[in-house]
Amino acid sequence: MARHFLGLYLLIVLTLAVVSWGQDRVLQAYSNPDTRDDKPMAVALFALANQLHEVPTGRWKDFVAAVAGKTGVDMELFATRDIAGRETLTKLGRGEVAYMQASAGDSWALQRLNDDYVLAVKAFEPAAQRGLLEWSLTMLFYAAIALVLMIWIWPLTRDLRALERAAALFGNRNWSFDAPIGPHSQIYPLARTFRRMAARIDGLIASHKDMSNAVSHEIRTPLSRMQFEIELAQQAATVSDVRHSLSHIKADIAAIDELVKATLGYAILERADVALNIAAHNFTTLIPAIADAVKRDARPDILISAHVQSGADNVRCDVHLFETMLKNLLYNATRYARQEIRVTFETHAGMNRLLVDDDGPGIPEEDRQRVFESFVQLDRTAGRKTGFGLGLAIVKRAIEWHGGEVTASQAPLGGARFSATWPAEPYEGRSGISG
Ligand SMILES: Nc1ncnc2c1ncn2[C@@H]1O[C@H](COP(=O)(O)OP(=O)(O)O)[C@@H](O)[C@H]1O
Ligand SMILES: [Mg+2]
Repeated sequence: MARHFLGLYLLIVLTLAVVSWGQDRVLQAYSNPDTRDDKPMAVALFALANQLHEVPTGRWKDFVAAVAGKTGVDMELFATRDIAGRETLTKLGRGEVAYMQASAGDSWALQRLNDDYVLAVKAFEPAAQRGLLEWSLTMLFYAAIALVLMIWIWPLTRDLRALERAAALFGNRNWSFDAPIGPHSQIYPLARTFRRMAARIDGLIASHKDMSNAVSHEIRTPLSRMQFEIELAQQAATVSDVRHSLSHIKADIAAIDELVKATLGYAILERADVALNIAAHNFTTLIPAIADAVKRDARPDILISAHVQSGADNVRCDVHLFETMLKNLLYNATRYARQEIRVTFETHAGMNRLLVDDDGPGIPEEDRQRVFESFVQLDRTAGRKTGFGLGLAIVKRAIEWHGGEVTASQAPLGGARFSATWPAEPYEGRSGISG
């Protein structure tokens, strides 16, 4: 702090000093010393000399003393022979006003009266030495600069320190970042970017932890089943027993394969550089088509209806991501709905909104945020387990890449409602992932 402040202060003060010194120098160089404003003095001297010529020479001294007394200006009669300096004398000889330097920073203006006398009037020169007031003003000026700099620099240095401390802590196996930097700070945007970056790193680390936990869990189960089936096959008496074990092993391999596919699919969406392929699509046909495809895989008693705002034939999105998103929501709904699922799409005030409602048990209020995290499943025990808890995490990422968001709430049908909204004009390459 002190070092920063002193450095900047000295720099500014030195710059000011050099600039003002240079300015003086330049002004001096370009101004002629003879151009000082001595015309009023010349007029006064001329008038006085004229008046003196009207009184006898013997009374000149009294006359000059009287004028000096009346005006308060120092003036005297000098004898010409007391005047030193050839130049001054020739000037006086020509009848011009000459100046004679006296001791204490002031000078005398001289005007020849006759061969013997010269009239001298004290002329005030700008003081060569600075007075006390001027010195105090200068000090005040530099102190004001110091104060202003201090006011400006102090919070900056304090916030930079805080940021530095938080950054150092952050690297040190502590993945939460909190620097006490308020929105009025000069480095608030920097701190905000930092906070976002930290949150993103934190999220990535957490999701990788979840992912490796879940993957190892999800792989271990089919692996141990496979081991068991292989032992069975080794002891099998008939070819048909071997075939039976092999078909179980095949199913377990398929399960692992599915997990790998799902994990990779999610990992791709987690990357920082997903390239979106945004184009206009006709949702009045797209959404019913996706709904029909899902319906073919669902229980026959389930009713899926699609309500698409008329005129929604020009909706901009990445159609691949949109299809993934809607299918994930619909497949979930077919698992939980009693009999009815309703898809609604509308565009309002520049925002697209997709709703997927069902009449199932819904999602408890306290889990409505958590379900979107990767590998989170609410009812592992209910025997309805099909996926890996990645579906809603994929939905969340897909909509974030469109610059939007997805939330869970309660549907008017009584079950779960998933609501995805995104701007009608998503721009390509938008980073939907923010802290
Ligand atoms: N429509 C729904 N109704 C009730 N619960 C749901 C619904 N959709 C999702 N869930 C809950 O959210 C959890 C996470 O869903 P998801 O991420 O798709 O994972 P998965 O489908 O693999 O279980 C599900 O396990 C389920 O508990
Ligand atoms: Mg799912």
